[in-house]
Amino acid sequence: MIAIAPSILAADFSRLGELVYQVEQGGADRVHVDVMDGHFVPNLSMGPIVVQGLRPITRLPLEVHLMVEQPAKFVESFRKAGADTLIVHHEVLPDATPLLRHIRSLGAKAGFAINPATPVEVVVPYLEHIDLALCMTVVPGFGGQAYLPQSPQRIARLRQLIREAGVNIDLEVDGGIDLKTGLESVRCGANVLVAGTSIFGSPLGAQAATRQFVETMAHT
Ligand code: DX5
Ligand code: ZN
Repeated sequence: MIAIAPSILAADFSRLGELVYQVEQGGADRVHVDVMDGHFVPNLSMGPIVVQGLRPITRLPLEVHLMVEQPAKFVESFRKAGADTLIVHHEVLPDATPLLRHIRSLGAKAGFAINPATPVEVVVPYLEHIDLALCMTVVPGFGGQAYLPQSPQRIARLRQLIREAGVNIDLEVDGGIDLKTGLESVRCGANVLVAGTSIFGSPLGAQAATRQFVETMAHT
């Protein structure tokens, strides 16, 4: 089963509740919330109040992608606001184990993200402490970028490392995912697809675009 995680970064925020309802109706499996602090990435986005606002209006799990320099400062407030999964980046954590344990102790799922320039092998020591590995397929910071060509190889290697470790975790891809790059990523071993522009920017509308993703991936 391939899971679809629409990224609300690409949504029209004046209609956020309605658009989240649409992706839920379209068959999305979770909602992806991109948090940016202007330091780890050169952009600002949203904080816990957005998660708090979404929590009562959708049954979908909310996953929070923390593109911030100091993720430890924020995990509790996002969890309290209703986040189900908290994803932190390797690049700001010399040893991620304590924070990953802390996230799980809060009752959330722990995710671990790596940038395109980071060797995929860095995930190995953490595989027992995470529920999800996130392979960035663009340099994080902005929606609407092109899927990087080295991504398929990196996804396949990550899937191999996960298989070798014998753990049952999600392998998620994020950045430039549309039906084509999504299918390619799934063939390489990804099982969760984050999609922003290709869902919220689709001329079909968010609901039909989500449905198209779900149906396309059902045949893989
Ligand atoms: C990139 C974010 C992504 C982004 C994906 O920094 O982590 O989640 O919103 O957007 P698209 O699908 O437009 O590349
Ligand atoms: Zn993201």
